[in-house]
Amino acid sequence: MSSTKKSPSHLPRMGADGPSVQEMLDQETRPVPNALRDTSSVLLGTEPIAKERYTSADFAKTEMSRMWSRVWQMACREEDIPQVGDYQLYEIGDTSLIVARVTDDEIRAFYNVCLHRGRKLCDASGHGVNFRCPFHGFTWNLDGTIKTLTNEWDFSHVEKEEFSLPEARVGRWGGFVFVTLSDETEPLESYLEEIPSIYETRGWSLSERTKVVHVEKHYDCNWKVALEAFIESFHVVATHPGAMTYLGDAFTQYDVWPDRRHSTRMISPRGMHSPNVGPLPDETVYRAGVRALLGDAAESAKIPEGKTPRAAMADVKRAFLKETLAREVDHLTDCEVLDTIQYHIFPNLVCWAGYGSYLVYRFRPNGSDPDRSIMEIMFLAPDSESKRLQPVKTPTRLGPDESHHNAPQLGGYAAVFDEDLSNLAAVQEGLKSMKGTGVILGNYQEMRIRRFHQILDEYVSEPEKRG
Ligand code: FES
Ligand SMILES: [Fe+2]
Repeated sequence: MSSTKKSPSHLPRMGADGPSVQEMLDQETRPVPNALRDTSSVLLGTEPIAKERYTSADFAKTEMSRMWSRVWQMACREEDIPQVGDYQLYEIGDTSLIVARVTDDEIRAFYNVCLHRGRKLCDASGHGVNFRCPFHGFTWNLDGTIKTLTNEWDFSHVEKEEFSLPEARVGRWGGFVFVTLSDETEPLESYLEEIPSIYETRGWSLSERTKVVHVEKHYDCNWKVALEAFIESFHVVATHPGAMTYLGDAFTQYDVWPDRRHSTRMISPRGMHSPNVGPLPDETVYRAGVRALLGDAAESAKIPEGKTPRAAMADVKRAFLKETLAREVDHLTDCEVLDTIQYHIFPNLVCWAGYGSYLVYRFRPNGSDPDRSIMEIMFLAPDSESKRLQPVKTPTRLGPDESHHNAPQLGGYAAVFDEDLSNLAAVQEGLKSMKGTGVILGNYQEMRIRRFHQILDEYVSEPEKRG
């Protein structure tokens, strides 16, 4: 293995010895979507990532003023605010926004601040015909125009036409409502680059899904420590050893495209054991995989004659999808039904594609403290399944020391998230006592983390625009 200082300038073929994801796609018996063939890995440098990026209050402040203020952020789902008058609060740093459905087709985001003496207008998400401040009763219409100035005779100096609630820009994609605090940010359509067209592939679209689980987990770590623990499969070997029986962790494909700033991807294959264990009998891999997929597997379950564990697992998953979705799924490749096909949309949204899982994550700082963050875990179920399930608007909140088992809706994922939880505060504490220059990253398996920091650097080094 070459040292971090003597790495190749590009990464032609990486990953553990064994089948690559692209070679697995060669074995598919169904047509493979172009999106899965679009792969790109590059060496982005080998310098350590400065520890202060995770621990410094000054860096958190810069991040807030230069990055969070300029990016598109997912504020809520459209199904969180289905009726005119429904609104959700979205908070980032010290900024609070009211994201409201103003008409059937129009969603707007208002700064959640009364223009009288600055009280927060709304204390929680809800529904109303207008926004009335609890302090003195100033009231704004749903479209943000002023409705009532309490004791108006005392405010003859206020121009009512100019007394509308200030707004943040709103964009929509995939059933998500995005906001940006900047007038300079490019339109959401171009910001998302190839993402919308990729998700149009074969019914992956997230707009046809409903949020059926929403858990808000608070962590005692920087938001980047949390994010970075969920965009690589490298940690499976030590953090989730139970998954190595059915997950090809070290066969994961990582994609970073030099011409795309806001998206990276990984594809972690299932239906094979990790090269870090084994050899294991095929039946062991198959049964563990089916148990992880469906939460259940007969100990005597057998792989049909002539099938690999991966192909047999894919058939089990297709049968499950066909039953739960009541829709044709025979055309979907093994990769689409089994694997973790996970996109990271800069800075903080992580979405699965295909049918391997319905997970979505959102990561944010908790206020301005670099040592605290919020991770939200959502399941977006395809519509025909969600008819049997209740759409969930209000998240279940879990404190920093609370087990994910306190959110039973996470099912079998709770134990896995608890395994991740065991690292995060410990990383934050470790970074603070670290003697070296910073964090060392693997050239390939942690390429997405390096790319994320490079884009973050582009934002924080760009001077703030005036005016
Ligand atoms: S602060 Fe809102 S009405 Fe006075
Ligand atoms: Fe994990």
